[in-house]
Amino acid sequence: MPRAVLGILTTYPDGSSVRGPRWPQWRSFAEIIRHGRKQDVLVYVFSPGGVDWRRRQVLGWRSFGQGARRWALGWFPMPDVVYNRVPSRTAERHPSVRACLRRFLALHGRVFNPHYLNKSALQRALGRHPKLSRHLPDTIPLTGPAVLRRFADTHRRVYLKAVGGSLGNGTMELARTASGWRLRYNPGPGRTRTASFHTWPGAWTAIQRITRGRPYLAQRAIALARADGRPFDLRLLVQKHPDGRWRFTGGAARVAGLGQITTHVPRGGRRMAMEEALAKAFGPEYTAEIGRQVADLAERAAAAMEAATKRRFIEMSMDLGIDDRGRMWIFELNAKPLRFDEPDIQQTRIAYLLDYVVWAAREMSPISVPPPGANAPVRNDEIPLLKAAGAPRPVAAVGSLPGRPRFPR
Ligand SMILES: Nc1ncnc2c1ncn2[C@@H]1O[C@H](COP(=O)(O)OP(=O)(O)O)[C@@H](O)[C@H]1O
Ligand SMILES: [Mg+2]
Repeated sequence: MPRAVLGILTTYPDGSSVRGPRWPQWRSFAEIIRHGRKQDVLVYVFSPGGVDWRRRQVLGWRSFGQGARRWALGWFPMPDVVYNRVPSRTAERHPSVRACLRRFLALHGRVFNPHYLNKSALQRALGRHPKLSRHLPDTIPLTGPAVLRRFADTHRRVYLKAVGGSLGNGTMELARTASGWRLRYNPGPGRTRTASFHTWPGAWTAIQRITRGRPYLAQRAIALARADGRPFDLRLLVQKHPDGRWRFTGGAARVAGLGQITTHVPRGGRRMAMEEALAKAFGPEYTAEIGRQVADLAERAAAAMEAATKRRFIEMSMDLGIDDRGRMWIFELNAKPLRFDEPDIQQTRIAYLLDYVVWAAREMSPISVPPPGANAPVRNDEIPLLKAAGAPRPVAAVGSLPGRPRFPR
């Protein structure tokens, strides 16, 4: 008997049930299955279509051997814990996925993570937090040209981001210039493009062409600290442990590619060890202390986010910018972090994940699951736009945001 049974729930990006292994995600599933063998946890991958609720068994896949190339299909016992790796927000809205998650929640409640988070949920959860809100760059929902123009006039340089976006797709940087406006943008996958406008209506028309009616937010641009002359930010992983605490697992830096407005690796960004980037930006004598502070911030942010959603999460990654004066700015919290390419972080992550699964399978009582309807989950499509919405905050508040710089350059 294994110590626990873990089912990794996934689908095709459109939400339909998978008919076979699929790259690149299944590579990380195979890693978890391999670790499971070592930690005596039975791990398999399944889709909603594979669950036989009547017989209480699941048709799923399991890799064998060392790599991720060889998979076998088979019947497995019902999972003690469901690990939600449904690969897109669209897929999470698919009726079969929602029904499956709901049934497992009703059955035993051990479904992690319940859903994706989005950028306005972050504002909602942390925007009024007494200590954490100061780490959110000034942000407004993008409701129309007049509001955006006022916001951009105030801040001179702003980011426009899709509320449910990822990987920098559709992200724009709008800047005031001597002759008008400059827009740098990522139309889709691929490199950043630039356009200049003498008039505001011209800029706004271009912006609308990219937003295509999707919900967006505008955010003050942070002057990111630099490593080797390029802006960088940090990707930090925090995980829930059996004692209920969120703990920092590890973090890495992502250095922007030449001329890119985001740091994502598929857009020319480069990986760098966190310590190396911090040492390059602030000096080696400060890296340990900054490292402690970012870890602490990530732990507190995850705990606050989880408390605000009233659902149980087990891992989050945080995109954190540090400005040239050492102040820390939370860009994003992801409830379904992708694989970390840093082997030490990824290995530790899986080991902790399986420890938690074993603990949850044994100890976590289904009693604490809220009855259907009560404590209704905050779903992505139900999250209203920013609480801090309406008018942008007064200019005076901008200068008085976070306190003094903590680290000399
Ligand atoms: N306000 C900002 N100021 C400066 N850089 C930003 C800002 N917001 C985002 N970025 C850059 O863009 C990247 C992607 O932003 P993020 O909010 O994480 O969205 P995504 O979902 O596309 O990853 C960040 O990692 C950071 O490099
Ligand atoms: Mg991000």
